[in-house]
Amino acid sequence: MSAVPTWAQLVYLLCAVGFILALKGLSGPRTARTGNLIGAGAAAVAVVLPFVYLDLDHLPLIIGAIALGSLGGVLGARRVQMTQMPQMVALFNGVGGGAAALVALLELEELGHVPSVAVGTFVLVATAFTVLVGSVSFAGSVITFAKLQDLMTSRPVVFAGLPVAFAAALIGSVVLGWLVVDGVALWAGVALGVMGLLVGVLLVLPVGGADVPIVISLLNAFTGLTVAAGGYVLGNVVLLVAGTLVGASGTFLTLLMARAMGRSVPNILFGALRGGSTLGAGEASDRPVRSAGPEDVAILLGYADRVIIVPGYGLAVAQAQHTLRELVELLQARGTRVDYAIHPVAGRMPGHMNVLLAEAQVPYEQLVEMDEINGEFKHTDVVLVVGANDVVNPAARTTPSAPIYGMPILDVDQAQQVVFLKRSMRPGFAGIENELLFDPRTTLLFGDAKDSLTKLLAAAKAL
Ligand code: TAP
Repeated sequence: MSAVPTWAQLVYLLCAVGFILALKGLSGPRTARTGNLIGAGAAAVAVVLPFVYLDLDHLPLIIGAIALGSLGGVLGARRVQMTQMPQMVALFNGVGGGAAALVALLELEELGHVPSVAVGTFVLVATAFTVLVGSVSFAGSVITFAKLQDLMTSRPVVFAGLPVAFAAALIGSVVLGWLVVDGVALWAGVALGVMGLLVGVLLVLPVGGADVPIVISLLNAFTGLTVAAGGYVLGNVVLLVAGTLVGASGTFLTLLMARAMGRSVPNILFGALRGGSTLGAGEASDRPVRSAGPEDVAILLGYADRVIIVPGYGLAVAQAQHTLRELVELLQARGTRVDYAIHPVAGRMPGHMNVLLAEAQVPYEQLVEMDEINGEFKHTDVVLVVGANDVVNPAARTTPSAPIYGMPILDVDQAQQVVFLKRSMRPGFAGIENELLFDPRTTLLFGDAKDSLTKLLAAAKAL
Protein backbone atom coordinates (compact mmCIF):
# COMPACT_ATOMS: atom_id res chain seq x y z
CA MET A 1 0.00 0.00 0.00
CA SER A 2 1.31 3.47 -0.85
CA ALA A 3 2.81 5.63 1.88
CA VAL A 4 0.56 8.11 3.65
CA PRO A 5 1.84 11.70 3.19
CA THR A 6 2.81 13.54 6.37
CA TRP A 7 -0.01 16.10 6.12
CA ALA A 8 -2.56 13.26 5.85
CA GLN A 9 -1.01 11.52 8.86
CA LEU A 10 -1.44 14.76 10.80
CA VAL A 11 -5.10 14.94 9.77
CA TYR A 12 -5.53 11.31 10.87
CA LEU A 13 -3.97 12.23 14.20
CA LEU A 14 -6.50 15.06 14.59
CA CYS A 15 -9.29 12.58 13.80
CA ALA A 16 -7.95 10.26 16.51
CA VAL A 17 -7.95 13.19 18.97
CA GLY A 18 -11.54 13.85 17.82
CA PHE A 19 -12.51 10.27 18.73
CA ILE A 20 -11.00 10.65 22.20
CA LEU A 21 -12.82 13.96 22.74
CA ALA A 22 -16.02 12.30 21.49
CA LEU A 23 -15.71 9.56 24.13
CA LYS A 24 -15.06 12.18 26.79
CA GLY A 25 -18.19 14.07 25.67
CA LEU A 26 -20.28 10.89 25.61
CA SER A 27 -19.49 10.20 29.25
CA GLY A 28 -21.93 12.88 30.50
CA PRO A 29 -25.54 13.66 29.50
CA ARG A 30 -24.88 17.39 29.08
CA THR A 31 -21.98 16.91 26.67
CA ALA A 32 -23.15 13.70 24.94
CA ARG A 33 -24.69 15.42 21.92
CA THR A 34 -21.54 17.47 21.25
CA GLY A 35 -19.39 14.35 21.77
CA ASN A 36 -21.48 12.47 19.25
CA LEU A 37 -21.12 15.26 16.68
CA ILE A 38 -17.34 15.48 17.18
CA GLY A 39 -17.02 11.69 16.73
CA ALA A 40 -19.20 11.69 13.61
CA GLY A 41 -17.26 14.65 12.17
CA ALA A 42 -13.89 12.95 12.80
CA ALA A 43 -15.16 9.72 11.21
CA ALA A 44 -16.42 11.62 8.15
CA VAL A 45 -13.02 13.33 7.67
CA ALA A 46 -11.19 9.99 8.10
CA VAL A 47 -13.41 8.38 5.44
CA VAL A 48 -12.96 11.22 2.92
CA LEU A 49 -9.19 11.56 3.40
CA PRO A 50 -8.05 8.56 1.30
CA PHE A 51 -9.93 9.99 -1.69
CA VAL A 52 -7.69 13.05 -1.46
CA TYR A 53 -4.22 11.50 -1.21
CA LEU A 54 -4.69 8.09 -2.87
CA ASP A 55 -5.12 7.25 -6.51
CA LEU A 56 -7.94 4.79 -5.94
CA ASP A 57 -9.00 2.06 -8.37
CA HIS A 58 -12.67 1.07 -8.67
CA LEU A 59 -13.82 4.54 -7.62
CA PRO A 60 -17.47 4.14 -8.76
CA LEU A 61 -17.72 0.82 -6.87
CA ILE A 62 -16.31 2.37 -3.68
CA ILE A 63 -18.59 5.40 -3.87
CA GLY A 64 -21.57 3.14 -4.65
CA ALA A 65 -20.79 0.98 -1.60
CA ILE A 66 -20.41 4.03 0.66
CA ALA A 67 -23.69 5.49 -0.65
CA LEU A 68 -25.50 2.19 -0.08
CA GLY A 69 -24.07 1.78 3.43
CA SER A 70 -24.88 5.38 4.36
CA LEU A 71 -28.44 5.03 3.08
CA GLY A 72 -28.95 1.83 5.10
CA GLY A 73 -27.45 3.46 8.20
CA VAL A 74 -29.50 6.65 7.97
CA LEU A 75 -32.78 4.84 7.22
CA GLY A 76 -32.16 2.26 9.97
CA ALA A 77 -31.21 4.87 12.58
CA ARG A 78 -34.19 7.11 11.76
CA ARG A 79 -36.76 4.34 11.86
CA VAL A 80 -35.59 2.40 14.88
CA GLN A 81 -37.66 2.59 18.07
CA MET A 82 -35.76 3.47 21.23
CA THR A 83 -36.51 -0.01 22.64
CA GLN A 84 -34.95 -1.61 19.53
CA MET A 85 -31.69 0.30 19.88
CA PRO A 86 -29.69 -2.69 21.26
CA GLN A 87 -30.39 -4.81 18.18
CA MET A 88 -29.52 -1.93 15.87
CA VAL A 89 -26.22 -1.47 17.67
CA ALA A 90 -25.66 -5.24 17.34
CA LEU A 91 -26.26 -5.13 13.59
CA PHE A 92 -24.04 -2.10 12.98
CA ASN A 93 -21.33 -3.64 15.14
CA GLY A 94 -21.53 -6.98 13.32
CA VAL A 95 -21.23 -5.29 9.94
CA GLY A 96 -18.10 -3.51 11.18
CA GLY A 97 -16.50 -6.78 12.28
CA GLY A 98 -17.46 -8.50 9.03
CA ALA A 99 -16.05 -5.64 6.94
CA ALA A 100 -12.75 -5.75 8.83
CA ALA A 101 -12.52 -9.53 8.25
CA LEU A 102 -13.14 -9.08 4.49
CA VAL A 103 -10.52 -6.32 4.25
CA ALA A 104 -8.03 -8.60 6.02
CA LEU A 105 -8.77 -11.41 3.53
CA LEU A 106 -8.08 -9.02 0.62
CA GLU A 107 -4.87 -7.96 2.30
CA LEU A 108 -3.92 -11.64 2.73
CA GLU A 109 -4.49 -12.12 -0.99
CA GLU A 110 -2.06 -9.27 -1.70
CA LEU A 111 0.48 -10.51 0.83
CA GLY A 112 0.44 -13.84 -1.05
CA HIS A 113 2.15 -12.10 -4.01
CA VAL A 114 4.91 -10.60 -1.86
CA PRO A 115 8.09 -12.70 -1.30
CA SER A 116 7.51 -14.50 2.02
CA VAL A 117 10.70 -13.13 3.61
CA ALA A 118 9.39 -9.58 3.11
CA VAL A 119 6.19 -10.24 5.08
CA GLY A 120 6.60 -9.84 8.82
CA THR A 121 5.17 -12.58 11.05
CA PHE A 122 3.41 -10.03 13.21
CA VAL A 123 1.54 -8.65 10.19
CA LEU A 124 0.37 -12.18 9.37
CA VAL A 125 -0.69 -12.84 12.96
CA ALA A 126 -2.63 -9.55 12.95
CA THR A 127 -4.24 -10.51 9.62
CA ALA A 128 -5.32 -13.94 10.91
CA PHE A 129 -6.61 -12.32 14.11
CA THR A 130 -8.66 -9.80 12.13
CA VAL A 131 -10.21 -12.50 9.93
CA LEU A 132 -11.08 -14.73 12.91
CA VAL A 133 -12.34 -12.19 15.44
CA GLY A 134 -14.11 -10.11 12.77
CA SER A 135 -16.05 -13.21 11.67
CA VAL A 136 -16.85 -14.14 15.30
CA SER A 137 -18.15 -10.63 15.85
CA PHE A 138 -20.22 -10.68 12.65
CA ALA A 139 -21.89 -14.07 13.24
CA GLY A 140 -22.36 -13.45 16.98
CA SER A 141 -23.95 -10.06 16.29
CA VAL A 142 -26.34 -11.53 13.72
CA ILE A 143 -27.52 -14.10 16.31
CA THR A 144 -27.94 -11.40 19.00
CA PHE A 145 -29.94 -9.34 16.48
CA ALA A 146 -32.16 -12.35 15.68
CA LYS A 147 -32.72 -13.00 19.41
CA LEU A 148 -33.64 -9.43 20.28
CA GLN A 149 -35.77 -8.92 17.16
CA ASP A 150 -37.75 -12.11 17.97
CA LEU A 151 -36.60 -13.75 14.73
CA MET A 152 -35.61 -16.73 16.91
CA THR A 153 -36.14 -17.74 20.52
CA SER A 154 -34.52 -15.41 23.03
CA ARG A 155 -34.06 -18.31 25.47
CA PRO A 156 -30.62 -19.95 25.73
CA VAL A 157 -30.18 -22.55 22.96
CA VAL A 158 -28.21 -25.48 24.33
CA PHE A 159 -27.80 -28.92 22.73
CA ALA A 160 -25.90 -32.04 23.79
CA GLY A 161 -22.69 -31.62 21.81
CA LEU A 162 -22.44 -27.82 22.08
CA PRO A 163 -19.42 -27.58 24.43
CA VAL A 164 -17.53 -30.16 22.33
CA ALA A 165 -18.45 -28.41 19.06
CA PHE A 166 -17.36 -25.05 20.55
CA ALA A 167 -14.04 -26.46 21.74
CA ALA A 168 -13.46 -28.15 18.35
CA ALA A 169 -14.21 -24.87 16.53
CA LEU A 170 -11.74 -23.02 18.76
CA ILE A 171 -8.99 -25.61 18.15
CA GLY A 172 -9.78 -25.58 14.41
CA SER A 173 -9.42 -21.76 14.44
CA VAL A 174 -5.98 -21.96 16.07
CA VAL A 175 -4.80 -24.55 13.50
CA LEU A 176 -6.14 -22.55 10.55
CA GLY A 177 -4.66 -19.35 12.01
CA TRP A 178 -1.29 -21.06 12.16
CA LEU A 179 -1.68 -22.15 8.50
CA VAL A 180 -2.42 -18.55 7.52
CA VAL A 181 0.71 -17.29 9.29
CA ASP A 182 2.90 -20.13 8.04
CA GLY A 183 1.79 -20.40 4.42
CA VAL A 184 0.19 -17.00 3.67
CA ALA A 185 -2.52 -19.12 2.03
CA LEU A 186 -5.79 -17.47 1.03
CA TRP A 187 -7.73 -20.75 1.27
CA ALA A 188 -6.66 -21.07 4.92
CA GLY A 189 -7.79 -17.47 5.51
CA VAL A 190 -11.21 -18.17 4.01
CA ALA A 191 -11.53 -21.39 6.07
CA LEU A 192 -10.50 -19.40 9.16
CA GLY A 193 -13.28 -16.88 8.43
CA VAL A 194 -15.84 -19.69 8.14
CA MET A 195 -14.58 -21.22 11.39
CA GLY A 196 -14.90 -17.78 13.01
CA LEU A 197 -18.55 -17.63 11.90
CA LEU A 198 -19.12 -21.00 13.59
CA VAL A 199 -17.41 -19.85 16.81
CA GLY A 200 -19.56 -16.69 16.82
CA VAL A 201 -22.80 -18.66 16.43
CA LEU A 202 -21.87 -21.24 19.09
CA LEU A 203 -20.72 -18.50 21.48
CA VAL A 204 -24.00 -16.58 21.42
CA LEU A 205 -26.59 -19.40 21.09
CA PRO A 206 -26.46 -20.37 24.81
CA VAL A 207 -26.89 -16.77 25.99
CA GLY A 208 -30.38 -15.90 27.28
CA GLY A 209 -32.30 -12.82 26.11
CA ALA A 210 -31.67 -10.77 29.28
CA ASP A 211 -27.93 -11.15 28.89
CA VAL A 212 -27.81 -10.42 25.17
CA PRO A 213 -27.12 -6.66 25.56
CA ILE A 214 -23.99 -7.51 27.54
CA VAL A 215 -22.83 -9.89 24.83
CA ILE A 216 -23.44 -7.13 22.26
CA SER A 217 -21.09 -4.94 24.23
CA LEU A 218 -18.52 -7.77 24.35
CA LEU A 219 -18.79 -8.31 20.59
CA ASN A 220 -18.42 -4.57 20.20
CA ALA A 221 -15.10 -4.84 22.04
CA PHE A 222 -14.13 -7.71 19.69
CA THR A 223 -14.89 -5.55 16.65
CA GLY A 224 -12.75 -2.79 18.13
CA LEU A 225 -9.80 -5.15 18.53
CA THR A 226 -10.39 -6.44 15.00
CA VAL A 227 -10.34 -2.95 13.56
CA ALA A 228 -7.20 -2.10 15.57
CA ALA A 229 -5.42 -5.19 14.21
CA GLY A 230 -6.68 -4.29 10.71
CA GLY A 231 -5.23 -0.80 11.19
CA TYR A 232 -1.88 -2.36 12.00
CA VAL A 233 -2.01 -4.59 8.90
CA LEU A 234 -2.92 -1.67 6.65
CA GLY A 235 -0.52 0.74 8.39
CA ASN A 236 -3.45 3.05 9.13
CA VAL A 237 -3.07 5.01 12.39
CA VAL A 238 -6.65 6.20 12.64
CA LEU A 239 -8.02 2.65 12.39
CA LEU A 240 -5.52 1.56 15.02
CA VAL A 241 -6.55 4.31 17.45
CA ALA A 242 -10.31 4.08 16.78
CA GLY A 243 -10.24 0.29 17.11
CA THR A 244 -8.31 0.45 20.36
CA LEU A 245 -10.77 2.99 21.77
CA VAL A 246 -13.76 0.83 20.79
CA GLY A 247 -12.05 -2.28 22.17
CA ALA A 248 -11.23 -0.60 25.49
CA SER A 249 -14.59 1.13 25.97
CA GLY A 250 -16.49 -2.02 24.93
CA THR A 251 -14.53 -4.05 27.48
CA PHE A 252 -15.20 -1.53 30.27
CA LEU A 253 -18.90 -1.33 29.38
CA THR A 254 -19.17 -5.14 29.42
CA LEU A 255 -17.56 -5.34 32.86
CA LEU A 256 -19.63 -2.46 34.26
CA MET A 257 -22.90 -3.97 33.01
CA ALA A 258 -22.00 -7.41 34.33
CA ARG A 259 -21.14 -5.90 37.72
CA ALA A 260 -24.38 -3.88 37.81
CA MET A 261 -26.27 -7.14 37.25
CA GLY A 262 -24.23 -8.95 39.91
CA ARG A 263 -22.90 -11.46 37.35
CA SER A 264 -19.54 -12.46 35.94
CA VAL A 265 -18.86 -12.42 32.19
CA PRO A 266 -18.08 -16.21 32.08
CA ASN A 267 -21.37 -16.86 33.91
CA ILE A 268 -23.24 -14.76 31.31
CA LEU A 269 -21.56 -16.55 28.40
CA PHE A 270 -21.48 -20.11 29.67
CA GLY A 271 -23.95 -20.16 32.61
CA ALA A 272 -26.64 -21.90 30.54
CA LEU A 273 -24.26 -24.79 29.78
CA ARG A 274 -24.04 -25.46 33.53
CA GLY A 275 -27.80 -25.11 33.98
CA GLY A 276 -27.67 -21.58 35.46
CA SER A 277 -28.25 -18.17 33.92
CA THR A 278 -31.38 -19.26 32.13
CA LEU A 279 -33.30 -16.03 32.48
CA GLY A 280 -36.54 -15.98 30.55
CA ALA A 281 -40.28 -15.45 30.49
CA GLY A 282 -42.00 -16.63 33.67
CA GLU A 283 -45.63 -17.26 34.60
CA ALA A 284 -48.03 -14.51 35.71
CA SER A 285 -48.83 -14.90 39.41
CA ASP A 286 -52.47 -15.36 40.56
CA ARG A 287 -51.77 -14.50 44.21
CA PRO A 288 -53.97 -11.68 45.57
CA VAL A 289 -52.59 -8.12 45.49
CA ARG A 290 -53.95 -4.72 46.49
CA SER A 291 -54.92 -2.68 43.45
CA ALA A 292 -56.28 0.85 43.22
CA GLY A 293 -57.59 3.33 40.66
CA PRO A 294 -55.83 6.52 39.48
CA GLU A 295 -57.90 8.69 41.84
CA ASP A 296 -56.69 6.75 44.91
CA VAL A 297 -53.08 6.96 43.78
CA ALA A 298 -53.46 10.70 43.07
CA ILE A 299 -54.67 11.21 46.68
CA LEU A 300 -51.73 9.16 47.99
CA LEU A 301 -49.32 11.35 46.01
CA GLY A 302 -51.20 14.51 47.01
CA TYR A 303 -50.48 13.83 50.71
CA ALA A 304 -46.81 12.93 50.19
CA ASP A 305 -43.95 15.31 51.02
CA ARG A 306 -41.28 13.13 49.44
CA VAL A 307 -41.80 11.04 46.31
CA ILE A 308 -39.29 8.97 44.31
CA ILE A 309 -40.01 7.79 40.79
CA VAL A 310 -38.42 4.50 39.65
CA PRO A 311 -38.53 4.29 35.85
CA GLY A 312 -38.01 0.96 34.10
CA TYR A 313 -38.34 -0.86 30.80
CA GLY A 314 -42.17 -0.52 30.78
CA LEU A 315 -41.86 3.29 30.72
CA ALA A 316 -39.90 3.01 27.48
CA VAL A 317 -42.38 0.49 26.02
CA ALA A 318 -45.33 2.76 26.85
CA GLN A 319 -43.46 5.91 25.72
CA ALA A 320 -44.94 7.59 28.77
CA GLN A 321 -41.91 9.73 29.66
CA HIS A 322 -43.55 13.06 28.70
CA THR A 323 -46.70 12.35 30.74
CA LEU A 324 -44.52 11.26 33.67
CA ARG A 325 -42.57 14.51 33.53
CA GLU A 326 -45.84 16.49 33.53
CA LEU A 327 -47.05 14.62 36.62
CA VAL A 328 -43.75 15.20 38.41
CA GLU A 329 -43.82 18.91 37.54
CA LEU A 330 -47.35 19.19 38.94
CA LEU A 331 -46.29 17.55 42.22
CA GLN A 332 -43.20 19.76 42.44
CA ALA A 333 -45.28 22.89 41.81
CA ARG A 334 -47.37 21.86 44.83
CA GLY A 335 -44.28 21.63 47.03
CA THR A 336 -43.56 17.88 46.93
CA ARG A 337 -39.91 16.86 46.63
CA VAL A 338 -39.60 14.45 43.70
CA ASP A 339 -36.54 12.71 42.22
CA TYR A 340 -36.03 9.95 39.69
CA ALA A 341 -34.03 6.93 40.92
CA ILE A 342 -31.85 5.55 38.13
CA HIS A 343 -30.75 1.91 38.29
CA PRO A 344 -27.72 1.23 36.03
CA VAL A 345 -29.44 -1.65 34.18
CA ALA A 346 -33.05 -0.42 34.18
CA GLY A 347 -34.46 -0.86 30.68
CA ARG A 348 -32.57 -2.83 28.09
CA MET A 349 -29.42 -0.86 27.31
CA PRO A 350 -26.86 1.19 29.21
CA GLY A 351 -28.18 4.64 30.02
CA HIS A 352 -31.65 3.71 28.74
CA MET A 353 -33.52 5.67 31.42
CA ASN A 354 -31.20 8.69 31.15
CA VAL A 355 -31.79 8.90 27.40
CA LEU A 356 -35.53 8.36 27.75
CA LEU A 357 -35.97 11.05 30.40
CA ALA A 358 -33.59 13.46 28.67
CA GLU A 359 -35.81 13.12 25.59
CA ALA A 360 -38.72 14.31 27.77
CA GLN A 361 -36.60 17.31 28.92
CA VAL A 362 -36.37 16.10 32.53
CA PRO A 363 -33.59 18.19 34.17
CA TYR A 364 -30.44 16.07 34.71
CA GLU A 365 -30.15 17.07 38.35
CA GLN A 366 -33.43 15.27 39.11
CA LEU A 367 -31.95 11.94 37.94
CA VAL A 368 -30.22 10.37 40.93
CA GLU A 369 -27.99 7.29 40.60
CA MET A 370 -28.73 4.16 42.65
CA ASP A 371 -25.87 4.48 45.15
CA GLU A 372 -26.78 8.08 45.88
CA ILE A 373 -30.51 7.61 46.33
CA ASN A 374 -30.65 4.27 48.13
CA GLY A 375 -30.29 5.92 51.55
CA GLU A 376 -33.29 8.15 50.78
CA PHE A 377 -35.99 5.49 50.42
CA LYS A 378 -36.49 5.11 54.16
CA HIS A 379 -37.44 8.80 54.35
CA THR A 380 -39.78 8.58 51.36
CA ASP A 381 -43.59 8.66 51.59
CA VAL A 382 -44.42 7.20 48.17
CA VAL A 383 -42.32 5.44 45.53
CA LEU A 384 -43.93 5.32 42.09
CA VAL A 385 -42.48 2.36 40.17
CA VAL A 386 -43.26 2.98 36.50
CA GLY A 387 -42.71 -0.12 34.37
CA ALA A 388 -39.83 -1.44 36.47
CA ASN A 389 -39.65 -4.80 38.18
CA ASP A 390 -36.31 -6.65 38.41
CA VAL A 391 -34.41 -3.55 39.52
CA VAL A 392 -36.57 -3.32 42.68
CA ASN A 393 -37.01 -7.05 43.32
CA PRO A 394 -35.76 -7.93 46.86
CA ALA A 395 -35.09 -11.50 45.65
CA ALA A 396 -31.77 -10.08 44.46
CA ARG A 397 -30.86 -9.80 48.16
CA THR A 398 -32.74 -12.69 49.69
CA THR A 399 -33.01 -15.62 47.27
CA PRO A 400 -29.70 -17.29 46.31
CA SER A 401 -31.46 -19.42 43.66
CA ALA A 402 -32.86 -16.34 41.86
CA PRO A 403 -31.13 -15.49 38.56
CA ILE A 404 -30.78 -11.88 39.71
CA TYR A 405 -29.28 -12.84 43.11
CA GLY A 406 -26.39 -10.51 43.88
CA MET A 407 -27.59 -7.70 41.60
CA PRO A 408 -27.61 -4.41 43.54
CA ILE A 409 -31.20 -3.09 43.60
CA LEU A 410 -33.03 0.11 44.48
CA ASP A 411 -34.13 -0.21 48.13
CA VAL A 412 -37.75 0.64 47.32
CA ASP A 413 -39.01 -1.80 49.96
CA GLN A 414 -37.85 0.62 52.67
CA ALA A 415 -40.34 3.35 51.68
CA GLN A 416 -43.67 3.99 53.45
CA GLN A 417 -45.79 3.22 50.37
CA VAL A 418 -44.97 1.72 46.98
CA VAL A 419 -47.15 2.05 43.87
CA PHE A 420 -46.42 -0.15 40.84
CA LEU A 421 -47.69 0.88 37.42
CA LYS A 422 -47.79 -2.25 35.23
CA ARG A 423 -50.23 -4.02 32.97
CA SER A 424 -50.46 -7.45 34.55
CA MET A 425 -48.94 -9.81 37.11
CA ARG A 426 -46.34 -10.97 34.58
CA PRO A 427 -42.76 -10.89 35.90
CA GLY A 428 -39.95 -8.71 34.56
CA PHE A 429 -37.14 -9.78 32.26
CA ALA A 430 -35.60 -12.22 34.75
CA GLY A 431 -38.88 -14.16 34.74
CA ILE A 432 -39.24 -14.38 38.52
CA GLU A 433 -41.90 -13.29 40.97
CA ASN A 434 -41.43 -10.04 42.90
CA GLU A 435 -42.45 -10.40 46.58
CA LEU A 436 -42.71 -6.62 46.85
CA LEU A 437 -45.88 -6.74 44.75
CA PHE A 438 -47.60 -8.67 47.59
CA ASP A 439 -46.30 -6.46 50.43
CA PRO A 440 -49.04 -4.79 52.53
CA ARG A 441 -47.49 -1.37 51.74
CA THR A 442 -47.73 -1.94 47.99
CA THR A 443 -50.53 -0.82 45.68
CA LEU A 444 -50.85 -1.75 42.01
CA LEU A 445 -52.28 0.53 39.37
CA PHE A 446 -52.90 -1.81 36.46
CA GLY A 447 -52.76 -0.64 32.83
CA ASP A 448 -50.41 0.61 30.14
CA ALA A 449 -48.12 3.16 31.80
CA LYS A 450 -49.07 5.95 29.35
CA ASP A 451 -52.75 5.38 29.93
CA SER A 452 -52.39 5.08 33.72
CA LEU A 453 -50.19 8.19 33.95
CA THR A 454 -52.62 10.22 31.81
CA LYS A 455 -55.48 9.28 34.15
CA LEU A 456 -53.30 9.85 37.20
CA LEU A 457 -52.32 13.31 35.93
CA ALA A 458 -55.97 14.23 35.32
CA ALA A 459 -56.93 12.99 38.79
CA ALA A 460 -54.02 14.89 40.40
CA LYS A 461 -55.02 18.09 38.60
CA ALA A 462 -58.60 17.70 39.81
CA LEU A 463 -57.55 17.50 43.49
P1 TAP B 1 -38.20 -5.47 33.87
O1 TAP B 1 -37.76 -6.19 35.08
O2 TAP B 1 -38.08 -6.14 32.57
O3 TAP B 1 -39.73 -5.08 34.15
C1 TAP B 1 -40.44 -4.34 33.22
C2 TAP B 1 -41.82 -4.11 33.80
O4 TAP B 1 -42.51 -3.24 32.95
C3 TAP B 1 -42.63 -5.38 33.91
O5 TAP B 1 -43.13 -5.45 35.23
C4 TAP B 1 -43.79 -5.18 32.92
O6 TAP B 1 -44.96 -5.75 33.51
C5 TAP B 1 -43.85 -3.67 32.84
N1 TAP B 1 -44.31 -3.17 31.54
C6 TAP B 1 -43.96 -3.56 30.31
N2 TAP B 1 -44.61 -2.85 29.40
C7 TAP B 1 -45.39 -1.97 30.06
C8 TAP B 1 -46.30 -0.96 29.68
N3 TAP B 1 -46.56 -0.69 28.38
N4 TAP B 1 -46.92 -0.24 30.64
C9 TAP B 1 -46.70 -0.50 31.95
N5 TAP B 1 -45.85 -1.45 32.38
C10 TAP B 1 -45.20 -2.17 31.45
O7 TAP B 1 -37.50 -4.05 33.73
P2 TAP B 1 -36.49 -3.30 34.67
O8 TAP B 1 -36.98 -3.28 36.07
O9 TAP B 1 -36.19 -2.01 33.96
O10 TAP B 1 -35.20 -4.23 34.68
C11 TAP B 1 -34.39 -4.39 33.54
C12 TAP B 1 -34.05 -5.84 33.34
O11 TAP B 1 -33.39 -5.99 32.08
C13 TAP B 1 -33.12 -6.38 34.38
O12 TAP B 1 -33.36 -7.74 34.62
C14 TAP B 1 -31.77 -6.18 33.74
O13 TAP B 1 -30.78 -7.02 34.27
C15 TAP B 1 -32.11 -6.56 32.33
N6 TAP B 1 -31.10 -6.06 31.39
C16 TAP B 1 -30.82 -4.74 31.34
C17 TAP B 1 -29.80 -4.30 30.54
C18 TAP B 1 -29.46 -2.86 30.52
S1 TAP B 1 -27.98 -2.45 30.13
N7 TAP B 1 -30.33 -1.95 30.88
C19 TAP B 1 -29.10 -5.17 29.75
C20 TAP B 1 -29.44 -6.52 29.81
C21 TAP B 1 -30.45 -6.94 30.63
P3 TAP B 1 -46.27 -6.06 32.62
O14 TAP B 1 -45.83 -6.93 31.52
O15 TAP B 1 -47.18 -6.71 33.61
O16 TAP B 1 -46.79 -4.73 32.17
